[in-house]
Amino acid sequence: MLCYTTILWVVATVLTALRMVCSFKLLSSTLSCRAMDTTSHLLNPLKAPGWLQQLQWVGDPVGYMEAAARQHPDLFTAKVVGFGGTLVFLNDPRAIQELLTNDRKTFLALGCSNQILSPLLGDYSIIMLDGDQHKRRRQLLMPPFHGERMRAFGQLICQLTNAAFDQLPLNRPFSARTVMQEISLQIILQVVFGLTEGDRCHQLKDLLASLLDLFRSPLSSSFLFFPVLQKDLGAWSPWGKFIREQRQIDALIYDEIAERRTKDDRDRIDILSMLMAARDEAGQPMTDQELRDELMTLLFAGHETTATAMSWALYWVHHLPAVREKLLQELATLGQKPDPMDVFRLPYLTAICNETLRIYPVAMLVFPRIVQTPVTLLNHPLPPKTAVVGCIYLLHHREDLYPNPKQFRPERFLERQFTPYEFMAFGGGARRCIGEALAMFEMKLVLATILSRYQLALANNQPEYPRRRGVTLAPAHGVKMVLTGARSQQVVPLVEAT
Ligand code: HEM
Repeated sequence: MLCYTTILWVVATVLTALRMVCSFKLLSSTLSCRAMDTTSHLLNPLKAPGWLQQLQWVGDPVGYMEAAARQHPDLFTAKVVGFGGTLVFLNDPRAIQELLTNDRKTFLALGCSNQILSPLLGDYSIIMLDGDQHKRRRQLLMPPFHGERMRAFGQLICQLTNAAFDQLPLNRPFSARTVMQEISLQIILQVVFGLTEGDRCHQLKDLLASLLDLFRSPLSSSFLFFPVLQKDLGAWSPWGKFIREQRQIDALIYDEIAERRTKDDRDRIDILSMLMAARDEAGQPMTDQELRDELMTLLFAGHETTATAMSWALYWVHHLPAVREKLLQELATLGQKPDPMDVFRLPYLTAICNETLRIYPVAMLVFPRIVQTPVTLLNHPLPPKTAVVGCIYLLHHREDLYPNPKQFRPERFLERQFTPYEFMAFGGGARRCIGEALAMFEMKLVLATILSRYQLALANNQPEYPRRRGVTLAPAHGVKMVLTGARSQQVVPLVEAT
């Protein structure tokens, strides 16, 4: 398998390189989106040749980043695939602060640098927009993920968690990531479409889960990084399967949009209704294609990441008995049927979630920012068109910020307040994650519900390790667990069993 993987990557890299050379003329018109690739002037270049860096970045991103940081601890130029090719990685919190506080002027968060996600999300997703259009879309999308609107989902989150765990058999291994994905997918379907039941909802759930499973390993993620692999070689080929499933998902989304257009549902508070009611500055509504791309973005960004974070949290809490005991003690202070916001505010639970997102951040990088005017970072001059990223993984593993960074220790978040440029799981600046509050709310309520009601154990003693899953980092084995029973009386359920 390893051999096959290597051959595939080598072939893909060579072909991609050839394609890039052949299409250089075409590309030059869109260079404003690309990094400067004048190999002679790369800042702190790495020793490995570009083709090897590309393979390492796709196959073993953590190994790649750690090796690079040993060569150049604060800033290096990577020759990787996806998000532009040649990227300056920043790991220094002051430099990251400068990048993200100036990303509407000196550095721009251009949508075209995120083209790698276009096959999945389409060209009208918020992630592909920039400038004023991007700002307006954010203003439209942010409110449903905050405040009262978000709190209204508290009960639903606890109920969906109970329903998922109540149906698990005793003492039989299950993948925590799969169960977490079921829960987070149902939550996001409710938030985005207002759907939890019905044929369309079930079909969407099954198809989205299946589509995402195509990215479960570095090998199966390859076709996202190497456009040359995006060839339809029939329903069994990865790309063929991807486009067939995507067409089915699109059909379901367009059916839902068409049905909504025929109804007058002014009372609905879901995001689709809100987007359909919105008008641009010329008084025009969003087209079906624009609606579809935004819905796909929210469905994907809104559940895949949170499911991974929650499965890591379950892993750590069950891998480290002392952490679990301390959390159970904290949950026991909540009393009968606590308000979800009381759970949200628990300090140790918050520290566990932060430490989970620190040690293996689901997103390894922020989206690229492109230098507009000559600028100096950490005494290095950066010319216009340089693509720069804040590297969340390396920032979170800095020994000077997080002593013993490989150790899972929630207490570090109780002992010290970190700035937004030291702990940065959700990015920052113009593209800071719009789902942060929902993701943290969901993580805490799901974890508290599970710990309060069920006794679980890891299915084996093998430590989990992080592995690429599409553009994210996820537990390689999906966190195999067993349900061993219900929890005894000392901890009270958050909601009545469904
Ligand atoms: C643990 C869960 C999550 C993590 C770790 C995460 C992380 C991130 C990161 C690092 C970024 C890039 C920020 C930047 O470039 O500065 C981002 C952007 C984004 N996230 Fe999340 N996210 C999570 C959950 C969610 C959820 C629940 C949603 C909800 C719908 C969501 C929607 C988005 C969107 C739409 C963007 C792009 C924003 C823009 O282009 O303006 N994410 N996220």
